[in-house]
This record gives sequence, C-alpha cells and structure tokens, in this order.
Amino acid sequence: TSLRASGVTRVVPKAKSAAQILPEASYKVAVLGAAGGIGQPLGLLIKMSPLVSELRLYDIANVKGVAADLSHCNTPSQVMDFTGPAELANCLKGVDVVVIPAGVPRKPGMTRDDLFNINAGIVKSLIEAVADNCPEAFIHIISNPVNSTVPIAAEILKQKGVYNPKKLFGVSTLDVVRANTFVAQKKDLKLIDVDVPVVGGHAGITILPLLSKARPSVTFTDEETEELTKRIQNAGTEVVEAKAGAGSATLSMAYAAARFVESSLRALAGDPDVYECTYVQSELTELPFFASRVKIGKNGVESIISSDLEGVTEYEAKALEALKPELKASIEKGIEFVHKQQ
Ligand code: NAD
Ligand code: LMR
Repeated sequence: TSLRASGVTRVVPKAKSAAQILPEASYKVAVLGAAGGIGQPLGLLIKMSPLVSELRLYDIANVKGVAADLSHCNTPSQVMDFTGPAELANCLKGVDVVVIPAGVPRKPGMTRDDLFNINAGIVKSLIEAVADNCPEAFIHIISNPVNSTVPIAAEILKQKGVYNPKKLFGVSTLDVVRANTFVAQKKDLKLIDVDVPVVGGHAGITILPLLSKARPSVTFTDEETEELTKRIQNAGTEVVEAKAGAGSATLSMAYAAARFVESSLRALAGDPDVYECTYVQSELTELPFFASRVKIGKNGVESIISSDLEGVTEYEAKALEALKPELKASIEKGIEFVHKQQ
C-alpha cells in the first residue's frame, strides 16, 4: 500500500491476512473408513481445509466413487483412493494425521460396548498397519467403543515398539460440541462464545461435562445441571433412536472430527494456542486413560490440563467417582483383548 503525504511516497506494510498467516497447504491426512457415514462428510470437510495437501481415503469398498466426487472440489488438496488391505500401506506412508472412523455403528437398544466384538478387530488390524507405515503420525480414533479402542491401539503400538502416548487420541470432540450447543440453547448464549470441558470417557455416564467450568461462566440450578448432564450423556443415543436403525451420528461427528483434525494441523504448524478435550493416556486420575482438555503442540500432547478437575461441584465430584469403575472395566477389556490374541 502506498501512502502519499506531503509529496512523499511511503510504503506501508499491509496487515497480514489470515491466508498469509496460515502455513501453506502441506499436510497429508488419511481417513480409514472413508466411504462410511462419517467418512464421507469428514472427507468433504477435510477437503475444505487450507492446510491439507493430500487427502488419502481408505476403505474396504466403495471408496473410488467418494474420491472421484471429492476430487472435483477446487480446494488445494489432492484426493487419493485406496481400497482393501493390499493398498493400505501406500495409503499410510508419509501421512501426518490418520483418522479412524472404520467400524460398525449402533442400532437402537445397543450400547457402544456391544460394538466391541466387531470393532476391536477392525481397529487392531488398522493400527498394526499404522505402526508399520506411519508410526510418527497423530492417530485419531473415532471407532466405538472409544473407551476400549484407544487402549487397544496403545497395546498394539507398544507390541510394535512404536507407542508414543502423546500422539494417540480418542476423539471425544463431539461431546464438547454437543455440550456447547445444549448449554448455549438452554442459557440463550451466543454459541460461538460457549466452551464446556467434557472429561472422563465417551460412553454413557463416563461422559462428564463440567458445567461449573463452562466459559463464559454460567450458573445452573440443580435441575438444569441434572437435565443438561443427562442430555449430553445420552445425545448419541438420541441420534441412534431418531435414525431408527440407520446408524448413529455421522454429520455432527464429521463436523467434530474435522475440528479435531484442524486443531491438530494448526498444532503441527506451530500454533502455540491449541487446546482440545480428548481421551488420552493420562495421569490426571488413577485411570490410565482419561479424557480432559489437553494442550496440543507439534509433538502431540504437550500438557494435560489439570485445573478443570480442581474445585468441581459436589455433583461433578460424585459423577467423577461414579464413572471410574465403568471406564476402568472398558480400558481393561481393551488391553485384555490384545493380550488374549497372543
Ligand atoms: P458406517 O457403517 O456408515 O461406516 C463405517 C465404514 O467403515 C464403512 O464404510 C465400512 O466399509 C468401513 N470399514 C469396515 N471395516 C473396515 C476396515 N477393516 N478397514 C477400513 N474400513 C472399514 O459407520 P459410521 O456411522 O461411519 O460409524 C463408524 C464408527 O464411528 C462406529 O463405530 C461408530 O460407533 C463410531 N462413532 C464414534 C463417534 C465418536 O464420538 N467417537 C461418533 C459417531 C460414531
Ligand atoms: C455418538 O456419541 O454419537 C457416537 O459415539 C455414536 C453412538 O453410538 O452413540
């Protein structure tokens, strides 16, 4: 920009636009289970990211059409498709982030744990390939039951000698997305301002929204706390019932997973201010895995935010104790599954 003042031309540096501040599109992201209910809208949202150079789509079937379709969007990333185990290694080599929504979803009347028998094996085989081909990548696990599939992934990575607890994430972002939405609706707040940490795990009572730590600070009656907590814990079931046999949350999940991918990419790009709730290896409680807010940096989890668990209400403290036995059992079930296979 030139400025003309008293006949002198000065060159004034232009304020940097968001596009200039953001790094170039340079990250490779793989989605495993890319032709599914979550995989397809998630692929679309990742295709819209200015940070992604390659979007690698893997599934056991139907992925070619999804990739051809997405590839026509005029955004920076190149879309590539990979079908079946023989193409999995090529899909994974050199990727920065692997997102795993592969597996079966719930039908009405089922718990997430009812998916264990099928999804545990799917996650196991996919993580074996991740360990062999991109052990340095951030791994985002969406496949349910997350409370068990993340410990399964950790055990497999350990067996392969490449486990880095800082880079293995259970995606619990949807719980935060829901908590933010429901709290904003209930309290007539602007959605964009609301941030509610959700800790514990990702199933039933293990999902613990810390309403007392909501930002902006809001007060709730005991009835409101009870009603909101239950709604957030049962939100997945609310969608499963509404879909009446056609699956579980896919669109809101894709939105939440895309937010978590974008946060991870910003962290990889050096943004020093990336915080997300996620289910990770943790020392916050006596349980080996626990969801809480974490600071994410270039190397993955930089720190686990302990302050959210300090000074919680009596209701939250009781709910925290109440969730521990179920979460512990789900973690142990995942670990045993891997050890039994040996
Ligand atoms: P879906 O059935 O629509 O899609 C799953 C996809 O996985 C299918 O395309 C299928 O072909 C693929 N798949 C199956 N086995 C595979 C394998 N071995 N390798 C690669 N791909 C494979 O299901 P969906 O609605 O997309 O849900 C997927 C999973 O995500 C379910 O387990 C569901 O419970 C879970 N989920 C988690 C959350 C969360 O908050 N973490 C939210 C919603 C759903
Ligand atoms: C959700 O929370 O929507 C997912 O975990 C899917 C489910 O089974 O509820």
